[in-house]
Amino acid sequence: MISLTVNGAKRSVRSSPDTPLLYVLRNELGVMTPKFGCGLAQCGACSVLLGDEEIRACITPIAAVEGKEVTTVDGLPARWARQKKLSAAVAKGKLHPVQEAWIEEQVPQCGICQFGMMIKVTELLEANPKPTDAEIKTALTTSGPSPHLCRCGSYAAILDGAHRAAQLMRGEA
Ligand code: FES
Ligand code: FES
Repeated sequence: MISLTVNGAKRSVRSSPDTPLLYVLRNELGVMTPKFGCGLAQCGACSVLLGDEEIRACITPIAAVEGKEVTTVDGLPARWARQKKLSAAVAKGKLHPVQEAWIEEQVPQCGICQFGMMIKVTELLEANPKPTDAEIKTALTTSGPSPHLCRCGSYAAILDGAHRAAQLMRGEA
């Protein structure tokens, strides 16, 4: 058995140590927001946060995350509540600002890439609360093993969503 924390909950899994984290999340733990796009670290659809860092779950063996904390888009609301020390009453039903921004800006088209995009933007905004266009583009294109790809071409909306999320995270209306 391999133990890890997924979205704040301790989980123990039976998969063999070389099983990709993506398969464990989706097939064993039922966490479906990370998507299988390429399986080769070439698209970003499977991205999750390992601690504060975005990783590609499709190429990360489960053994590499033993004892560590994995966050998917499902866990972003609780992550935000913890970071902002929101009471349970205030946090109830509240989304993470990145999720709110994605809805406000109507970012997704087909949606398959968007969970990875939101994870990458969360990673960026936690480190850089007021990024420029160039910094957002750099984060989404050159900071990982490959660019985050959107075959629907929603890149302009993703940029708008990232800026809106940054505003919301800074507490601006
Ligand atoms: S499915 Fe992991 S990067 Fe494409
Ligand atoms: S919204 Fe369809 S691949 Fe990005």
